[in-house]
Amino acid sequence: MKILFATSEAHPLIKTGGLADVSGSLPDALAALKHKVRLVLPAYRDVLQKVPAKSVRKVAEFEVGGCGREFVATILQVKAGGVEGIDVPVWLVDIPELFDRSGNPYLAEDGTDWWDNGERFGVFSKVVTELAMDRVGLKWVADVVHVNDWQTGLVSALLSMEKKRPKTVFTVHNMAYPGNFPQSLFAQLKLPPSLWGMEGVEFWGHFSMLKAGLLKSDWVTTVSPTYAKEICFPEFAYGFEGVLQKRFEEGRLIGILNGIDEEVWNPAKDELIHKNYSLEKGRVANKKRNKAFLLNELSTLKGLDESAMTSQMENWLEAPLIGLVGRLVEQKGIDLVLQVLPDMLEQTQANFVFVGSGNKAYEAELSRYAQQYADRIWTYIGYSERLAHQVEAGADLFLMPSRFEPCGLNQMYSLAYGTPPIVHHTGGLADTVVNATDEHLKQGTATGFVFYDPSRYALKSTLLHALHLFGKKRSWQQLQKNGMQQNFGWKASAKHYVKLYSEEK
Ligand code: ADP
Ligand code: GLC
Repeated sequence: MKILFATSEAHPLIKTGGLADVSGSLPDALAALKHKVRLVLPAYRDVLQKVPAKSVRKVAEFEVGGCGREFVATILQVKAGGVEGIDVPVWLVDIPELFDRSGNPYLAEDGTDWWDNGERFGVFSKVVTELAMDRVGLKWVADVVHVNDWQTGLVSALLSMEKKRPKTVFTVHNMAYPGNFPQSLFAQLKLPPSLWGMEGVEFWGHFSMLKAGLLKSDWVTTVSPTYAKEICFPEFAYGFEGVLQKRFEEGRLIGILNGIDEEVWNPAKDELIHKNYSLEKGRVANKKRNKAFLLNELSTLKGLDESAMTSQMENWLEAPLIGLVGRLVEQKGIDLVLQVLPDMLEQTQANFVFVGSGNKAYEAELSRYAQQYADRIWTYIGYSERLAHQVEAGADLFLMPSRFEPCGLNQMYSLAYGTPPIVHHTGGLADTVVNATDEHLKQGTATGFVFYDPSRYALKSTLLHALHLFGKKRSWQQLQKNGMQQNFGWKASAKHYVKLYSEEK
């Protein structure tokens, strides 16, 4: 099969979160199953800087309409393997007026959305549609077009107007981002008028690119089975529950759990951590060396002096270290963490490391804690791939109290790294972590800690339970081992997608 995979971010070219991890590894997993895959994404400035000149060539150039202006879209093809970590050819859509900006693909420097996001991704979707229809002279006819999140939702709607067209699969990575724009954008982009209306892309008088994908794709998938059920209810659907229930009843909405890239997130091979490690005779010996390294790095960054560090190190290594890496947004339950921190500091020995960026108020609070408790809390505000890996390797426990979580990758990474996760029972977290109840411990199936109500009380008691178990060496090792033996590679999920791609429209 020929599969065109369209996305707004892909690791290692550009990343803000898990969508990039998925877009950087699922196409490779599909290619490993002998399918022909093309990955297509905007040629952001940072992406162009990462692509070696010798791996890229111009393969097409054509005009595409924006809002009251015409753009020249250039398709740059990066050969398979031209960027380390991506095994399939990549098509970069180069429209400098829209994408030649550095930094975050969606946000301007002040943290607000780019003013022209609607035009940027509307035009990108038009270009993907042209590629999918093989109308730009590339002689590559897709059987399936797989699009992701609102940024590419319009592709399915545009393709639904075509007589002879590829199948469309739309994956929802997060319902919280609806891609809502004024109706005027719909008109300015000169989209087919028949796409407007309740049965089209209209959402309460607005133009929703998410709805375009949800309603007009042959199949809608989401990134875990539990999230597929959750989004049929108002609490998780942000007003789209009607559309989603309809798609579910038609048998067109399914959940396929994300996988993890075992080349990138594997403690035995990870090049970003201090000491590689794996399970040896049921133990994870080198993990402690990573903990010492991480604490040393973070303390140096913080400006703690050498002698203070040396005198503290022994205590630090003894005390449980709880890590959190993620976008600092409401979704991730950061408010719950802030609510339980004072008690945890007062009543336990636990230390904390936070790596993330997002909401300015959360950033400020976490930084303030790190200042006030200089030898118990370390906060890094910003994006650091290295630190993200080092926290997985160096922390004893990983905290992920998300209020909702479509899939979540970090909890799977932490399982693989022998760092049992503490998670709220929702979405992909519910599908991947087995609570350390007495029964599950006895059965040898427990992998982490789960709380069932997104409240500070539930989180606190679960943290206390986890710290209690941390003190029991044998149970702890068993828990780490159970997690490290889980198989979350992409192969099974990629096969699931292929099965879907093969079905009749
Ligand atoms: P989401 O996609 O909702 O952000 P996921 O758990 O699916 O959540 O994926 C998050 C990905 O982004 C992980 O690979 C995680 O390590 C990474 N990440 C998030 N914030 C940061 C950060 N500040 N620095 C480095 N990596 C980060
Ligand atoms: C989204 C979700 C996250 C998921 C990721 C990749 O960003 O918030 O739960 O793991 O997409 O699918």
